[in-house]
Amino acid sequence: MSKKDNFQTRAIHIGNEPDQETGAVVAPIHLTSTYEQHAVGNDKGYDYSRGGNPTRTRLEKNLASLESGDHCFAFASGMAATTTLFQTFSAGDHIIIGHNVYGGTYRMSVKVLARHGFEFEFVDTRSLENIEAAIRPNTKLVFIETPTNPLLELSDILLTANLCKANNIKLAVDNTFMSPFGQTPLSLGADVVMHSATKFIGGHSDLIAGALITNDADMAEQLQFIQKSGGAIPSPFDCWILLRSTKTMALRVQKQSDNAFELAQRLHQSSIFDEVIYPGLETHPQHSLAKRQQLSPEGVPIYGSMISLRCGSVQKRDDFLSNLRLFTLAESLGGVESLVSVPFEMTHASVPTDMKLSMRLTEDLVRLSIGIEHIEDLYEDIMMALKE
Ligand SMILES: Cc1ncc(COP(=O)(O)O)c(C=O)c1O
Repeated sequence: MSKKDNFQTRAIHIGNEPDQETGAVVAPIHLTSTYEQHAVGNDKGYDYSRGGNPTRTRLEKNLASLESGDHCFAFASGMAATTTLFQTFSAGDHIIIGHNVYGGTYRMSVKVLARHGFEFEFVDTRSLENIEAAIRPNTKLVFIETPTNPLLELSDILLTANLCKANNIKLAVDNTFMSPFGQTPLSLGADVVMHSATKFIGGHSDLIAGALITNDADMAEQLQFIQKSGGAIPSPFDCWILLRSTKTMALRVQKQSDNAFELAQRLHQSSIFDEVIYPGLETHPQHSLAKRQQLSPEGVPIYGSMISLRCGSVQKRDDFLSNLRLFTLAESLGGVESLVSVPFEMTHASVPTDMKLSMRLTEDLVRLSIGIEHIEDLYEDIMMALKE
């Protein structure tokens, strides 16, 4: 198996080699905290499961390959991954973060790590000029999410990576919304990719996990050290579930995106919402960037399975939510089942109201995560919920 194999083939085989001892085609789950040493320091590559576990190693190999990276570190959550990444920097370092990142990333930066002397600055990273203007002598990291949660704003990874390189700054991309199937930031010049594996990588809303992937050997060494020291690791069972999930990621993500594309077009044409926000629509201000940057492994544009809708009023929003039959009101996204959420009060509750309003993250905004149900059932559910 090599890097030259196609995404779908790597997803099935890398990290999933048959068990050497028994020949089992499906990888065993190594439920162990510790490992026998034949003499002090003489082990088979593992000594304690916080530092490493064979099931986790298989998952890390699989995810590294799917993101076109050399090194992957798996974590107990996406936030554990982001926190570990930030912890590779030091007090006094300046970190530029996209202004519309996930609310938990905002909370960890401003309410926890800022107390430890990190200087965070939130910038609208859709514009390269904004990033350039924010760079200071102590800027060490630019952290972007593209598309963002929930406004689906895009940042140009290639141009941002070039700017960062010219200024000796690392670029991290939260690739949760696209999954490695829809976007591989390392191949566009990013230094590190972060995932909430809870979402499309897991794909079934049955676990919480995260990952960091990089080609930078120095960064990998630091990430591994903090992963082992802090211990925010996923259980072997969760690693196994994730390994199983990535086998179907290409099929799931493509279908979810196809469903979302079709729904977004129909909803846009019907004008029943004040605004339909979806990068696949020509009305999206960054549609051409989405078309260029968000590509399936075959090089075909893929616009993702997240759609945000402006209802116009909180009353219409609440009526819509209570009438939906198939869409479950819940946090999270990326699973095979369709979900609906209200970012203003749910995922972005910890972001100050004035900051939310300044970027038009309003109370009437509803976010859909489209699953793999039949498109006609999803469409009918939305239309009926509005009519009732
Ligand atoms: C874009 C994005 N990044 C990071 C996270 C955090 O991941 P987790 O919930 O796995 O800690 C989320 C969770 O919703 C997210 O949507």
